[in-house]
Amino acid sequence: MSVIRLDKYVSSSLIVSRKDASGIIRSGRISVNGTVCKAFDKKVETDADSIALDGEMLSYSEFIYIMLNKPSGLICASEDAKAKTVFSLFPKEYADKGLSCVGRLDKDTFGLLLLTNDGALAHRLLSPKSKITKKYFVKCDKPFSASDGDVLREGIVIEGKRTSPAALEICENDEKSAYITLTDGKFHEIKRLCYACGKKEVVFLKRIEFASLKLDEFLEYGEWRNLTDDETNKLKSATKGGN
Ligand code: URA
Repeated sequence: MSVIRLDKYVSSSLIVSRKDASGIIRSGRISVNGTVCKAFDKKVETDADSIALDGEMLSYSEFIYIMLNKPSGLICASEDAKAKTVFSLFPKEYADKGLSCVGRLDKDTFGLLLLTNDGALAHRLLSPKSKITKKYFVKCDKPFSASDGDVLREGIVIEGKRTSPAALEICENDEKSAYITLTDGKFHEIKRLCYACGKKEVVFLKRIEFASLKLDEFLEYGEWRNLTDDETNKLKSATKGGN
């Protein structure tokens, strides 16, 4: 159980700023256990009290978990002097929610990017001990061959460390395309692995899975949605055994 102020509860459940939450409370639209409450600093118990907006029950979650289908052209950073970041895709209400990208995709990489303000979970997901799998669809300028699978399994040395074994599935209908599954997330790892396979250059790269999450096929590039409770719970279990 946690006890928080009513404006924090409303701000978190509606994803609005604290100021806007206070305005909504003062306008008499919020009830606590069935009674209108205009005191934005009232203390409420997140598990025990029923908070409603215009009669509709609100639910409270301490953290936000988002799946984004990243488009090309945006960088994974909270701010940058020159380049646009993935945060430019979100409404301003998200600016003060403390969201961070869980790992990075290159500027020209598409696909599944997780964002959260649950720093402890992000840390566990990124820890090498958790061995979180990431699956990518990649298209190169030259065809893959079965021996490329051996290169990926044996790994390559990046910054003095050998990469963990990666798996290659070549697409039957197009040998320049493949699925590669990794458990570590070194800088430009897919591009470097492909280059180690007969100097192939990556022409298209998209992450399609991250741990237990699969990229939602209904999300267009640049679109995002909140994770369901089931997805969040599965992610949390995926890190059990990590640090
Ligand atoms: N590997 C890459 O080379 N780039 C990415 O964006 C992700 C993995």
